[in-house]
Amino acid sequence: MRRLSALPSLALGALVLGCAVMARQTPEDAGMLTWTSRALPEARGDFRVLPDGRREAIRYKGWPTRDFSAFRTYDYDDPRPEPVVERVTMPAGLKGDPTKGRALFLDRAKGPCSGCHLVPGADVWPAGNVGPDLSTLGDRGLPDPYLYQLVWDPRVVFPDTAMPPWGRNGVFTSEEVAHLLAYLQTLRGPLPPETDPDRNPLTRKKPVGFGDNLDPTNNPAVLLAEDAQAPWEQKGPAGRACADCHPGGPERAMRSVATRYPKHVRIYGRVMSLEDFLEAHGPETTGRPYPAESADNLTMTMRIKMASNGLAVALDTSSPEARAAIARGRATFYRKVGARNHSCADCHTSDKGAKKFLGGRLLADVSDGLTRHFPTWRTDRGEVWDLRKRFQWCMTPLGTNMLAADAVEYAELELYLTTFDRGKPLNVPGIRH
Ligand code: HEC
Ligand code: HEC
Ligand code: HEC
Repeated sequence: MRRLSALPSLALGALVLGCAVMARQTPEDAGMLTWTSRALPEARGDFRVLPDGRREAIRYKGWPTRDFSAFRTYDYDDPRPEPVVERVTMPAGLKGDPTKGRALFLDRAKGPCSGCHLVPGADVWPAGNVGPDLSTLGDRGLPDPYLYQLVWDPRVVFPDTAMPPWGRNGVFTSEEVAHLLAYLQTLRGPLPPETDPDRNPLTRKKPVGFGDNLDPTNNPAVLLAEDAQAPWEQKGPAGRACADCHPGGPERAMRSVATRYPKHVRIYGRVMSLEDFLEAHGPETTGRPYPAESADNLTMTMRIKMASNGLAVALDTSSPEARAAIARGRATFYRKVGARNHSCADCHTSDKGAKKFLGGRLLADVSDGLTRHFPTWRTDRGEVWDLRKRFQWCMTPLGTNMLAADAVEYAELELYLTTFDRGKPLNVPGIRH
């Protein structure tokens, strides 16, 4: 149960009576209301208890199901602060093995450290450069206790670092940290000449685009969006179709609507993306369900957004509700969460990871605008993802329990991100790796 938003029955009443009633709803009414997720079960961030008593996350097919509830999330009701910085002294007599350390450095199930740091070796692929090149770190003669602390909890040295507190949050044990630093101390110059420019993230070619995103022979999502035509025209169980109340076809009836989302919707008392609005408004008016992350919701969202392609994003950023929500969304963007203690900002702002490689992936920069091409076709998944699934995914491998796709926290985060796209044309559906 979430605090914000509307009882379905009240909202339905308002709609049946028409807009006049909607306009009379006060924020006070709205503030008393609660939001229950209408998302697909696997999109809600729920858990099931296994026969052995362990909790397992209910997630999309193929996603990791480990429970990370020991760590902070984006939930506005999660009062836990960022874990305190942990000063440690290296246990006496602990001696690391450089060979084990190298394997741990490259272990994808653990870090990998190489996702952010280059080290020598033709097998080091793909290395990233969010952190400094460590290829000759050993030459600096840094003392073991210093390096031990640095890997255990780097915030002692770099207070706002993008590097996770590996030991503090239990990703690596103290023996493993000792192995890692034994390896780091072996990294000495001079380096052999680089044979493959792609190995080094500084000289690696940047990925090129994916071609015309609105060409249906190039982007399967364009054709998928046409699936929304039938539910638009056909009457749902409640006896009405979208077309009955919104005449003229989606192109005309929905022209420019998407440029104003996410927005604060008075009758639901919360900020909503188009997806959020549809999952409430669709069943209330037609009787047909549009749960967040369902094919019906995604295709209808694309159809409606496509009616605004070429039009500039025109958010409300000045009403008191919008201003407060943008401030909360911004705080979420900078909030450190999960086992890796990462914030979105660690990977998507230019003073941190943006425009650098995380492993093989070039990180997008929030200030360039990340929202106008969503929902987007993901070539490596063969699926359409809306922004919410992207938010859920970005933090899942990093050890954070996701929220429901229609959580207000994500809506306000999406609103904040969308402010960077103001004045720029919508271009949906996108296509990305
Ligand atoms: C998400 C990116 C990221 C990952 C993953 C990461 N680091 Fe870092 N690391 C950084 C950044 C960024 C810095 C530079 C400190 C700063 O300015 O925040 C850094 C600094 C360091 C330094 C100090 C370098 C110097 O020049 O003083 C060492 C050593 C180091 N990391 C080791 C590791 C090890 C070992 C791992 C794996 C257990 C690891 N890092 C994983 C981002 C990362
Ligand atoms: C019973 C009539 C009715 C039906 C059926 C209906 N709507 Fe609506 N819809 C409304 C009213 C009334 C509003 C609010 C007034 C407005 O913004 O035009 C609205 C608003 C909207 C909005 C938001 C417009 C904005 O500017 O924020 C969207 C999007 C929308 N409807 C889509 C749909 C879709 C998709 C369907 C079919 C699943 C549908 N509607 C079915 C009556 C209806
Ligand atoms: C450890 C790094 C990391 C963190 C933390 C992270 N992301 Fe990402 N994100 C990625 C990678 C990798 C990609 C794929 C490459 C790209 O497009 O940036 C990506 C892609 C995205 C995209 C798609 C960009 C596009 O143009 O299609 C969005 C939007 C996004 N992230 C938002 C977020 C938000 C919001 C958060 C916080 C909830 C977050 N990310 C946290 C690594 C991260």
